[in-house]
Amino acid sequence: MVNNVTRPSLSLDKQYIVLNVIGVIHYTDKLFSFRTNRPKAFRFKTGEFVMIGLIINSETVFRAYSICSASWQRTLEFYSIKVPNGPFTSFLQKLTPKSAVIMKVKATGTLTLSSLKPGRRLFLLCTGTGVAPFVSVMFEPAAYEIYDEVIVVMACRLVCELKFLSNKCRQLVRNKRLSMLFKNKLRVYTSVTRDNYPFVGRITALITSGALVDDLNLSALTQFDRFMVCGSQAMIADTTLALKALGYKEGSVNNPQAFVYEKAFVS
Ligand code: A2P
Repeated sequence: MVNNVTRPSLSLDKQYIVLNVIGVIHYTDKLFSFRTNRPKAFRFKTGEFVMIGLIINSETVFRAYSICSASWQRTLEFYSIKVPNGPFTSFLQKLTPKSAVIMKVKATGTLTLSSLKPGRRLFLLCTGTGVAPFVSVMFEPAAYEIYDEVIVVMACRLVCELKFLSNKCRQLVRNKRLSMLFKNKLRVYTSVTRDNYPFVGRITALITSGALVDDLNLSALTQFDRFMVCGSQAMIADTTLALKALGYKEGSVNNPQAFVYEKAFVS
């Protein structure tokens, strides 16, 4: 890994850049986030991901990480799971503010606002670390200019897995400029599937049973609703199936439609 001991004197190709870690927060024994500097020349769209690399046993190993920061923010933040004995995250979780990581400078991804047709409500449907790109969207003023409402719907197994999102909501509330914009426009709905919690159930079940609509006090889902989906491969497959069954179509930059999902995490 790239750390203070092996801090690179790497002569990196232009497509790579070294990011210095500024802060690390461990939310649970399985989840953590880290923040890095943002090189001035690095541009990305809200909702995109990059490849983050570490040098492990003399080999550079990369994994796709959604950028949690919005495109206007001066630092970059990433949210990660700690996979037990995982070949990458076993090292990544040891990052400290003295460490560095490698980033491929090309940001990409499908969870961009421009891949959706104009609509009234934007639902951000996520499980687990799939919330990462939606934190980026939550902090994006354009989302509140385009939509009447932005509704984050996050499901996870345990209550403690909601800490990262709660933390981000608090940061958002403290940001005076943004809080003016999202006032009455941002809603956050959280559901837990393996713990006691007021709202329970998988996102798929919440959609198909109508519980999501009821709990949010909406009259129904409409043709003006738009969706972004991010989570595990199975969650994405099942959630997009549920959306298709309701008549929504998948969009892309060239053909904006009603929903998009992150393909980087689907093999
Ligand atoms: P459940 O607890 O019923 O498995 P994971 O950590 O496995 O990615 O799960 C995160 C959340 O996503 C959990 O609430 C889990 O529910 C839910 N989940 C897992 N698989 C699916 C799926 N195929 N469709 C919808 N939600 C899912």
